Amino acid sequence: MNLEITPPRALRGITRVPGDKSISHRAAMLGALAEGDTHIENFLMGADCLATVKCLAEMGVSFTGPDKKGRLTVHGRGPAGLKEPENVLDAGNSGTTIRLMLGILAGLSFFTVITGDASLRRRPMKRVTAPLSRMGARIWGRQGANLAPLAVRGGELQGDSFSLPVASAQVKSALLLAGLSARGETRVAEPAPSRDHTERMLQYFGAEIHKEGLTVTIKGGQVLAGRRVTVPGDISSAAFLMVAAAVVPGSDVTIREVGINPTRDGILEVMRAMGADLEIFNRHQLGGEPVADIRVRHSRLRGVTIGGELIPRLIDEIPVLAVAGALAEGELEVRDAAELKVKESNRIATVVEELRKFGVEVEALADGLRVRGGRPLTGTSCASHGDHRIAMAMAVAGLAARGKTVIQDAGCVDVSFPGFASILSSLRVD
Ligand code: S3P
Repeated sequence: MNLEITPPRALRGITRVPGDKSISHRAAMLGALAEGDTHIENFLMGADCLATVKCLAEMGVSFTGPDKKGRLTVHGRGPAGLKEPENVLDAGNSGTTIRLMLGILAGLSFFTVITGDASLRRRPMKRVTAPLSRMGARIWGRQGANLAPLAVRGGELQGDSFSLPVASAQVKSALLLAGLSARGETRVAEPAPSRDHTERMLQYFGAEIHKEGLTVTIKGGQVLAGRRVTVPGDISSAAFLMVAAAVVPGSDVTIREVGINPTRDGILEVMRAMGADLEIFNRHQLGGEPVADIRVRHSRLRGVTIGGELIPRLIDEIPVLAVAGALAEGELEVRDAAELKVKESNRIATVVEELRKFGVEVEALADGLRVRGGRPLTGTSCASHGDHRIAMAMAVAGLAARGKTVIQDAGCVDVSFPGFASILSSLRVD
């Protein structure tokens, strides 16, 4: 599927974005491990989260839904309700599915093989399989259990202490989920704060978690109780609309009930520093997570330099921030973001390659990129590289470019933001 974009006169209106991807995955997984029903509202019907549901269903977990409105009930029967799957589990394109599922599988005494699509089979898994093996799981795979397909024989885990070399919520979460079924305590220390949805949701489902600075500790053997979860709008999806409204002249867009968890809100901080006109209001809590409405009006942006502890708080927004940088005065520089190389595509390489097609001056750095802004963009034909966030970032560039832009192979948008094109159409003023 190709996506055609022409520049609108403006983007205006009030909208919502689909449910948060990270929180949807966790709600399905914790619901499966819990005892009793978990009713989820606004579950993300994207391919990634549906892959999680399918993997759990193959292990005997029963679900009602999801229906068209994103209502999904997980009929949890505790960890003992999960059974050895007869077939290979398929995580599709989803890093969160495979890594968090490995944490769950490590604690279950049966044999499983889990794999994914070509992109996922290239992504590093040793960061999860090495600590899980240290806890007692047996895991096999190519390159010393680094690459999927991975075979797991779990059970009989022993809690341990880990100091993570990279700030990764997927690794932290996998270890906490394994820790839940391990003997004794499991302690995870991160170098910088990564998203804390797993910790919040474990507490929301009744588990005790101890947090001190950058270290989280969980005691094994705790029982989770099914809960009612309303998933906030995904700030990582909202980011595409926020940048689009900021860069298209005359725009004024409000997005309702977006998650603004402080471990995810780096995009708000950086857009403000770039001079964006942002208003955040109607703040409230939804199932243990802070949410708000976000209004963005067009304004002149300027480039900034970002790095350090801010990076994990906006890691998925860097492709669209690069687009904002291309349309800003001065230079945008991103450092300390080498993790971008092991996302759904090598996002340093793919952002540079695609932005150059619009006539943008952009340079790859070992740990990030540098974008020179201020020159008009020219519509072009782009490749998605099978990466949903590259497809959507380039669509935003197309909204602010002269002439027509075509994003080839844009079906991958459905991984995280089904309905992206129709929301854009609904906001257009032509
Ligand atoms: C996610 C964590 C991040 C993020 C990904 C979702 C999660 O990955 O990029 O899109 O749900 O835990 P890392 O843990 O690899 O940084």
